[in-house]
Amino acid sequence: MHDEGITILMLGDVVGSAGLAALERVLPGLIDRYGADLVTANGENAAIFGITEQDARRMLAAGVDVITGGNHTWEKREFWSFMDGEQRVLRPANYPSPASGRGFVLIEKGGCRFLVINLQGREYMTPVDCPFRTLDKVLLDVRTEAERDGEAPPCLVLLDFHAESTREKEALGFYVDGRVSVFAGTHTHVQTADEKILPERTAYISDLGMTGVLDSIIGMDKAICMERARKQIAYPLRGAEGLANVQGICVRLTKSGKALSIKRFSVA
Ligand SMILES: [Fe+2]
Repeated sequence: MHDEGITILMLGDVVGSAGLAALERVLPGLIDRYGADLVTANGENAAIFGITEQDARRMLAAGVDVITGGNHTWEKREFWSFMDGEQRVLRPANYPSPASGRGFVLIEKGGCRFLVINLQGREYMTPVDCPFRTLDKVLLDVRTEAERDGEAPPCLVLLDFHAESTREKEALGFYVDGRVSVFAGTHTHVQTADEKILPERTAYISDLGMTGVLDSIIGMDKAICMERARKQIAYPLRGAEGLANVQGICVRLTKSGKALSIKRFSVA
């Protein structure tokens, strides 16, 4: 924590081995440069698709505090039991029960208490449970449990909303304004230039972008993606090779969880 408040880094989807390598190369320097108090990164595409235990361990070792997920989280069957036992790995909270893993976590770090929540959208995606009502329920459950334990509810609240539709992202962003500190969209792998602070001081961006190779089609091999699109045949995808960027946002918050600034970055 610094005099000016608390600093959060949220990183876009880590795509394939090139994305993982970039995370390991770049993230320690970013944490130093920004003086980050907490780091999240979406990991559901680290193993295109899905994520393995080894990928998750590499991300955590590189400095990620919480790994968020999405529609591809469950692709690697062996990851399910790891996710059940590792509270720093999330999957969207609004999957119909029963599903492995957890959708939110309370993290204590550097004398601060953070609540990180992961949700998934429904527009142009699998029709999971309502993200709006799920968010309300998570916040209510966390507040009720804190009050029962005689504690103040956490006010540093970070949300990864894994969704396709910008309209749905903006709708949820305004819905949670003032109740979460940072709203970060993920899933499209394309960083949006709409970072802003909403009226009730929630930092907002529609999509963080990706931690992957920019000279690609959303982090994948261009030739294969073009063939798939052109012929409508599901050729197996492969991650793009080459130098990857780490994309995301740096947000400064007051100790009471109100956004002071949001800055977008893309670092090679
Ligand atoms: Fe996704």
